[in-house]
Amino acid sequence: MTIAIMCSGGDCAGMNPAIKSFVDYSYEKGITPYFIYEGFEGLIDGKIKKAKHENVAGIIHLGGTIIKTSRSKRFYEKKYREQAYDNLQKHNINKIVVLGGNGSFEGLNVFSKEYDISFVGVPSTIDNDIYSSDYSLGVDTSLNIIKSALDDIRDTSSSFKRAFVVETMGRDSGYLAIVSAITSGAEICVVPEIEVDFNSLEKRLKKELKNGRSYILAIVAEGTNKTDTLAKWIEEKLDIETRTVSLGHIQRGGNPSVFDRLMANEFVTLSIDKLLTENTKSVIIYKNSSFQYKQIEELSDKTPTINPFLLKQLEKMIK
Ligand code: F6P
Repeated sequence: MTIAIMCSGGDCAGMNPAIKSFVDYSYEKGITPYFIYEGFEGLIDGKIKKAKHENVAGIIHLGGTIIKTSRSKRFYEKKYREQAYDNLQKHNINKIVVLGGNGSFEGLNVFSKEYDISFVGVPSTIDNDIYSSDYSLGVDTSLNIIKSALDDIRDTSSSFKRAFVVETMGRDSGYLAIVSAITSGAEICVVPEIEVDFNSLEKRLKKELKNGRSYILAIVAEGTNKTDTLAKWIEEKLDIETRTVSLGHIQRGGNPSVFDRLMANEFVTLSIDKLLTENTKSVIIYKNSSFQYKQIEELSDKTPTINPFLLKQLEKMIK
């Protein structure tokens, strides 16, 4: 029996530990593991190779993905999906573990409706925006990177009596910004999920500045596009010198945290178990501290939500 693994979309820390677990566990189960390199692009171009233990030696601590990834436009076209299927056939592969996000799972869903393909999607995106999953691979490492950056920014911010507006990634999701704001004790957090009450914020912060507050830390989710607007608002309304920092792609790299490594191992082991027992088209999610499989249709077109407790904590900060 054969099985393949691929990455698709934005890379994240945790992919390499997942790839290592995939190879180790496949051999343990007596199945032959394959790598599909460069995501859907590599699948179309036939970049598929048998995976060996030696390929995954010494990768568990590395960020990114040794099998590379891509965002493929060609895979939207039927003729390229047909080419991709022919490439899989050459290696007798019809079971795939895909590390990616919503777009990648949808791509495989279309593919698996056209051809005899089973797959399990493993949520792997720093955006943490897979519907019904509390967690995606890479999120923990990313949050720790943001935490370190905010701790450093606080040092310089407090030395000067300045405000810093820090932009986090996350596409349309404010998850990274919200958790970072709560765990870093930020004063302001602007995310797509909840409107800020700027009038009450102005009153509160003016009072605090009058009473000796010496700096302000604000977090903005990239999906709001409000980083510069907020910096201007702080300077004008609160009369405090302001700098902006966009953390950018450093949030996606780095040595995977212990939690991401452990979760990578569990996600992949359970995905292989599922593929060995049934013809499935599913995504493995992590909800309320346990793993569940969701049929891909259950996730399609659903808007991801953020834990209500986190939103409540956020509301206290910005309302
Ligand atoms: O989906 C992961 C992510 O890092 C988003 O947070 C961000 O908006 C996007 O990818 C950036 O994409 P790219 O790496 O193509 O610039």
